[in-house]
This record gives sequence, C-alpha cells and structure tokens, in this order.
Amino acid sequence: MAGSLIGSEIIKIGNEVNDMIRKGEQICNLTIGDFDPAIFPIPAELQHEITAAYQAGHTNYPPANGMAALREAATAFTKERLGLAYSPADVLVAGGSRPLIYATYLALVDPGDRVVFPVPSWNNNHYCHLSGAEAVMIETSPENNFMPTAEELAPHLAGATLLALCSPLNPTGTVFTKENLEAICDLVIAENQRRQPDEKPLYVLYDQIYWMLTFGQTVHFDPVNLRPELRDYVVYIDGISKCLAATGVRVGYAFGPAVVIDKMKAILGHVGAWAPKAEQVATAEFLPNTPAVDGFITAFKHNIQRSLETLHSGLQELKAAGYPVDSIVPMGAIYLTAKLDVLGKTTPAGQVLSTTKELTSYLISEARLALVPFSAFGTSDTAPWFRMSVGGASLASVEAALPRLRAALDALK
Ligand SMILES: Cc1ncc(COP(=O)(O)O)c(C=O)c1O
Repeated sequence: MAGSLIGSEIIKIGNEVNDMIRKGEQICNLTIGDFDPAIFPIPAELQHEITAAYQAGHTNYPPANGMAALREAATAFTKERLGLAYSPADVLVAGGSRPLIYATYLALVDPGDRVVFPVPSWNNNHYCHLSGAEAVMIETSPENNFMPTAEELAPHLAGATLLALCSPLNPTGTVFTKENLEAICDLVIAENQRRQPDEKPLYVLYDQIYWMLTFGQTVHFDPVNLRPELRDYVVYIDGISKCLAATGVRVGYAFGPAVVIDKMKAILGHVGAWAPKAEQVATAEFLPNTPAVDGFITAFKHNIQRSLETLHSGLQELKAAGYPVDSIVPMGAIYLTAKLDVLGKTTPAGQVLSTTKELTSYLISEARLALVPFSAFGTSDTAPWFRMSVGGASLASVEAALPRLRAALDALK
C-alpha cells in the first residue's frame, strides 16, 4: 500500500514554486489551497483565545471525541447557521478535517468496497488507496460547472458503499444547485430502499469545509436539510481550516449518525489525531462570538472574492480578445476554474506542449504564474483545465500576473 501510494501533486508543484521564491524570483503562486498569514491572518479574537488557552494551562490530552465545549459550540453554530440539528454526542473533533475524512472511509469501507466520487475532486483517490476501496471516478463536465449530476452518478450507485461529495468543491470553486443535490439525494434514498437488511447501506460523505465561503447569490445546500430521511446515512465534514483561514490551527469536526461517529472516534483514538486542546478551547470560545465571526467572514469573503473576480474578468477579457481561454464564475471556496486551451502549441524553446503538466511548467518559468492542472484531481492530463487558488497571493500579485499570462500565451506558436 505504502509503496504504491502517490504523493500530493499539488504539494509537489507548490514546493517547486517555493524553491524559486526562496531564490528571489517573484512568482504569483496560485497553487496551494492554503493562506499566506501575512495576507489572510486568522481572526484576531481566535488568536487571542488560543494564547489565553495556553496561558490557562490547556496542555494535556483532550477527550478522544473532542472537548465537550467545542462539540456544543459546533452543534449550536451548525444549528443556527445551517439549520441542522445535531447533538454534541454526534460530533467528533480531530486535528483538521483530513483525519475525519480518512476515519469515515475506514469506518464504512472494507477493502474492495466501491466508493463513488466525481473527478475533478480533492484526494478521494488517495483515501480509496489507503482504505483499499475500489475507486469509481465519475468524470464531470464544464457544462455542469464540474459538479456531478444525478444522471452521471445513477449507473454507479448499485452496490456502492460510499458516495463522496463536496460543495463548494475543491478544485473548481463551484457548488451544487438545490435541484441537482435533491436529485442525487433521491438516488441514495432509492438505492437504500432497494437494499436488503443484511446489506450495507450506501453512505454519503458530505465535505462542506468551504460552506461559509459562498459569493453573491450563491446558497450552500446540504443533503439532510433537503432530504431529512437521509440523516442516518450522511457524515458531514466541517471545520475551521478554510473558512477562518486557520489551516495551521488544525481544528476539524465531523457530525452524523452516532453509530458511525462512534466507530470513527474509536479509529482516530488509536491514531491519536486529536486537535490540540488549547486550540479546541479557543475555537469553542470563538464560534459563539457572533460579531467576531461575522466581521471576519464578511471581510475575508470580500477579499477572496475580489481576487477571484479579478482573475475571472482578466480571463474573460483575454477570451473576448480571441485567446483560447475561459473561466467559470466563482461561486465559493478560494478557487477559480480556468481553461487554457493551448496544448499542441510550441514554446519559444521549441517544446511542443502535450500535457497540462508541461503547460504548468511553462507558465511557471515564462509567466511566473503557478497553477494546478485538474490532472492533479483525477482529470485526464490533456483536459485543458486548471485550478487557481487565491489564498496565498495578494491582489497586487494577481493583477500583475495577468499581463504576464497574456505575454506567455502570445509567445506560443
Ligand atoms: C475539500 C477539502 N476537504 C478537506 C480539506 C482538508 O482540510 P484540513 O486542513 O482541515 O485537514 C481540504 C484541504 O485542502 C479540502 O480542500
């Protein structure tokens, strides 16, 4: 398993870029789904609470399922803001959301079980590999904003154990529409009605780690609000990493049917993937501080959206000028989907660009612009789509990169 595990493509490209930055090169780095704390710091009140929690001596083991105060704060927050009513006993806290996704896979999936997920999507391929699952990857299309549709998923759900969904989606920055998610929920309900009592049900992993980051008229939808009868089958993945720019703070939480959450707790208890106790205490203090949360989210979303819109309108201007590029309106998360349809063209150095990886390297050296091709998320490496992530770049650096992109495209023959 370990020998054939594939490392993160994104981190590989990100490291390449960081090496160049260390050597003094000015690069617009739109690779990593992370934040530059100098541009996007965590909320000041959260930082204060973390420091205070260490000063108060919260340095021993937290309970295996997380501090009661945090599980209470997370359920109150979820009830108030999403209308989802869960009890603190249905919540599991961990060191970020990754261990919770892994624990969901381990709790539900036996080796050889089928896990259905759309591509492009983030890391499901790796969690399938780690759990020995058979990955059933469903290619989505730009016409549907790269979100999976019920029609695309329907032929693959019979006998599957897990359907892994995410909205707003990494890498696309797009979201489920109400109608689309409802239709998918109805498929899951019908599939579970068909199964015999001795068969495993079909579960849904619903990763909504970016749910607070939606723009304009975009609304976040989730399965149990749309179809309450799915409650026993949905594990929600949530946390503060993205929406509070707190990727390094490492506080995530999952909630769902207690029978599954309890098994996940048992698994993670042995792994020891707890969130640090002081950070749990601090998050429990911060989440109920409505003015601080709202103030932070409003400003943060504004800045993220401004960078995404700058990229989107820059690409749309190039498109209007006849360049073979396109982009999808940013709807949520910290990502823009960009199309750069220049494979087959030749660089000034005489290289014919035949994959999006080669095009990525060309753009890093020629435009000093670093993106991640959708091939890092399971899409074919000749599909001309890229993720632009704005958490690590200033607006000024995003603006400065657009003319360089134009020049690099001009240089291709
Ligand atoms: C969709 C999605 N889920 C989960 C995570 C992991 O978040 P965490 O830092 O809380 O482990 C990421 C991080 O990139 C993500 O994009």
